[in-house]
Amino acid sequence: MPHKSPHIDFPGQPLLGNANRLLNDALNFMSEMSNTGKKVVSFKIGRETCYLYNHPDLIERVYRSKQKNYERSDYYDRLKPFLGEGLLTLEGPKWRQQRSVAQPSFKGSCLKEMTDQMALSADQNVKALINNATNNKHPVDMIEFSLSITLDIALRTMFTTQLKEGVLSKLYDAMTVALREMEKKLWSALPLPMWLPTKRHRRYKRAVGYIDELVLDLINERVKRPRGETNDLLEAIIQGEIDLNGKNNIDQQSLLDQVKLILVASHETVTSSISWSLLCLSKHPEWHTKLKTEAETVLGDNLAGFDDIANLPLSKAFFEEVLRLYPAAWSFSRKTIDEDVLDDGTVIPAGSTVVTAPYIIQRHPDFWHNPEGFDPARFLKSDDKLQQHPFAFFPFAAGKHVCLGNRFAMLEGVIILSSLVRAGEYHLLPGTHVEAEPAMTLRPKAPLLMTVHPQQKIDQKKQAGAA
Ligand code: HEM
Repeated sequence: MPHKSPHIDFPGQPLLGNANRLLNDALNFMSEMSNTGKKVVSFKIGRETCYLYNHPDLIERVYRSKQKNYERSDYYDRLKPFLGEGLLTLEGPKWRQQRSVAQPSFKGSCLKEMTDQMALSADQNVKALINNATNNKHPVDMIEFSLSITLDIALRTMFTTQLKEGVLSKLYDAMTVALREMEKKLWSALPLPMWLPTKRHRRYKRAVGYIDELVLDLINERVKRPRGETNDLLEAIIQGEIDLNGKNNIDQQSLLDQVKLILVASHETVTSSISWSLLCLSKHPEWHTKLKTEAETVLGDNLAGFDDIANLPLSKAFFEEVLRLYPAAWSFSRKTIDEDVLDDGTVIPAGSTVVTAPYIIQRHPDFWHNPEGFDPARFLKSDDKLQQHPFAFFPFAAGKHVCLGNRFAMLEGVIILSSLVRAGEYHLLPGTHVEAEPAMTLRPKAPLLMTVHPQQKIDQKKQAGAA
């Protein structure tokens, strides 16, 4: 009997499979696969057969009930030329060691301290944005603004440092070049090896060189200081390295990889979420007013503190709705260790790549009312939450690799929003159509040009009206 190849739902082109569609039209392609209504959809990338898991039950399987059988896929190795061996690219004992070193820096008491720095940075950056916009009267690229505020917050909270204006903007330029190159490598059927001296590779290497030098300076400066003098994530990472290898055998490469990974993971994702939040504020002015009223009532003119966050439920729901519709980590994959036989009998062979996509599941019409509509109130209704499948919303993944900074990111989102709505109004230039760019993170396509106007206080407006 000749061997019959299993049916592939989306075979794509010979040799390439769907690599080109994933590079150029990923969201439509994934939506098409999801619209088949099948729980598991098979497709090719190059010669490899991959599987899209298109049901929250299967997301639960990957990240909870069968998580031991689902490891990070080989696609994460493609990030290593830039990110090296850090939490996002590792599995096994090395991952566990790094995670146990970093985890304590994100517990409640540390988050409480970090909140003050976040609020201060948000306040200063938003005030600078409003001042510049008022003086220059030019539209502002809100992606640039989001990048600079999130990088500033990451550096202040986790590394207790601040970069000068010029250095900060050079750093995010370099980050942009490096990340864009990694994105190209991520989906390519046959990624070009980095040693090939193409113009793009040379540009990429210059960018990575700049980032590495800056991060190494930060590390070396700290290593020289007495241990324990500063209490932050950088200190925990250095101490972890000393505990592992001894004071005289510090592995600089490992320190560089760990710090760089956190810097990238923490600012790129939040940048995308803040950019989308600004777009949603501009498109849904009624929500701007609700958030502003909430922030003014709870905070007045004060900076937000850790204990205030629980009193800003509308801002939290708004940020959650942004993460539902525009999940920064829009898709990520795992590899089966052993064959997995699903409940309906579908066989997923050992070593298969399985794609899980918040962008797809969080807009799935079987699990969400009005899935494409922007409605933060859905996160406030307890009855709706009960109807919702617990794995229909997973912007931070779940299980052992759940985002290390999930609580940090939620705090940061709410704090930045509460500063933005109190200080200004943000209007997309008329006639602008904003497309989503599914790169390493899901971003609005740059530039995201908006006009910025200083905000009047609600009671001032009332007084002006009465007069
Ligand atoms: C809105 C913002 C964020 C989103 C949507 C997000 C999403 C995610 C997701 C989905 C993962 C799992 C990826 C995978 O396993 O393939 C992840 C992992 C990770 N995230 Fe985040 N993240 C955000 C912000 C942050 C922040 C602020 C930090 C740092 C403070 C951070 C640090 C990390 C790290 C270190 C990992 C790897 C965890 C591990 O495997 O142990 N993230 N994130």
